[in-house]
Amino acid sequence: MQISFAALGPKVQAGSWVVAASDGKVLSQAAIKADKASRGALTRALKFSRFTGKSGEFLEVLAPEGLAASRILLVGLGKPAALDAKALEVIGAQITARLEGAGETTATLEIEVPKGAKVKGGEAAAHLAFGARLRGYSFEKYRTRNLDEFKRHLASVTVATSDTAAARRAWQGLEAVADGVGLARDLVNEPPNVLYPAEFARRAKALSKLGVKVEVLGEAELKRQGMGSLLGVGQGSERESQLVVMRWNGARNKTEAPVAFVGKGVCFDSGGLSLKTGAGMMGMKGDMGGAAAVAGTMLSLALRRAKVNAVGVVGLVENMPDGKAQRPDDVVKSMSGQTIEVLNTDAEGRLVLADALWYTQTRFKPKFVIDLATLTGAISVALGHENAGLFSNDDKLAERIFEAGKDAGEPVWRLPLGPGYDKVLRAKIADMKNIGGPYAGSITAAQFLQRFVENNTPWAHLDIAGVAWQDGEQKALAPSWGTGWGVRIL
Ligand code: BES
Ligand code: MN
Ligand code: ZN
Repeated sequence: MQISFAALGPKVQAGSWVVAASDGKVLSQAAIKADKASRGALTRALKFSRFTGKSGEFLEVLAPEGLAASRILLVGLGKPAALDAKALEVIGAQITARLEGAGETTATLEIEVPKGAKVKGGEAAAHLAFGARLRGYSFEKYRTRNLDEFKRHLASVTVATSDTAAARRAWQGLEAVADGVGLARDLVNEPPNVLYPAEFARRAKALSKLGVKVEVLGEAELKRQGMGSLLGVGQGSERESQLVVMRWNGARNKTEAPVAFVGKGVCFDSGGLSLKTGAGMMGMKGDMGGAAAVAGTMLSLALRRAKVNAVGVVGLVENMPDGKAQRPDDVVKSMSGQTIEVLNTDAEGRLVLADALWYTQTRFKPKFVIDLATLTGAISVALGHENAGLFSNDDKLAERIFEAGKDAGEPVWRLPLGPGYDKVLRAKIADMKNIGGPYAGSITAAQFLQRFVENNTPWAHLDIAGVAWQDGEQKALAPSWGTGWGVRIL
């Protein structure tokens, strides 16, 4: 979808002309203009409709008299006071969905924000565009039939605004984020026979064109580094495990400590010898959603030329049953030196992160580290698909992430950590086991991770198992199975 910004014009003569009204049928200037240009078609249509201007409402006038436009689409903005950047993104997405349904190819959005709204001209236009772009995503590369039914038609969206310069400035940053979300979605949507660890690494390597330094570590190197915990997970797979390090050094001071993002990249989680059921294995190609969010974030930072030193580390493995696979009761030694009794090979994400976290801290001494992982089914039991789980050893970092989630439309909810939860990880013969008891599964998983976090490193863990993909109802901004969750909050 091509996005452009233009000044408000006299009339729209190609494609759809999208104008707005706020709650109580209050038509905007552009809506009044469109009504006049169509010799009152809009006011006539309003008389026969239930449209009141509430958010999410639409009124469509096809082939308006006196205009070459295909339609006038009147969209409800709701109450001005509730209109913030996020609300505009949702409206931009709803307009896109509506026009896609109509098979429209071209649209001009003339949506001035009413007085009392929380965003202004150019900024508002950019967020409308952001919502349209996120909703305009599609992943159809494996379809060969009925393409017309699936492919996107809306090729060009022009957002008319009173301040095109401000809109273009805001859009630069937002477009980079949208591209990062797009990459994360692509990675999650790819099937596991295509996107195995080495292929994920190849796609990460492509970021080097934009100035990201990318290193790919194979099994021999991981063994030299002592990553027995990560390697044990990939041991039953025909595919080689990989650790990918992505570095963006955009800060003025190139030697300043980086911020670090670590992602769980289990390209397929069968459970291993602790094999999942058929139903439980559904969707497990998406078990690399944390790694996808990290890769997408690194892409966004590079496209934005962000003034930050950031490092992204993803542990990429495939968890498979095999004669060579790791067994329940195996003991592995992590890079940190701590030993782990693997009682359930399906609790593999924490084993991967244990080494990825340790490597990241010891090599980069980051200011803080945030890991993202589709770690536990239990997080969906607690929080459903609305919030990701947040765990942290640092209140300030936790607060920043909480606020960022609210702003970005990727909300998180903090859960507790504490020594009482840690106790359940005590093992028969090794330093710890990789599962807790039957209760608080997401918390005991986070406790496990914390054992691989140095005390003085501010750390946060985001359990994104409930939000990385969607099987039921679609989120307004996410039209595909993979949501790309994590890029916007990071
Ligand atoms: N990848 C899964 C977690 C998961 C489950 C993500 C469902 C999305 C949907 C993880 O590796 C896993 O299998 N966790 C187990 C842990 C248990 C064995 C302690 C789980 O949640 O059942
Ligand atoms: Mn698992
Ligand atoms: Zn998993």
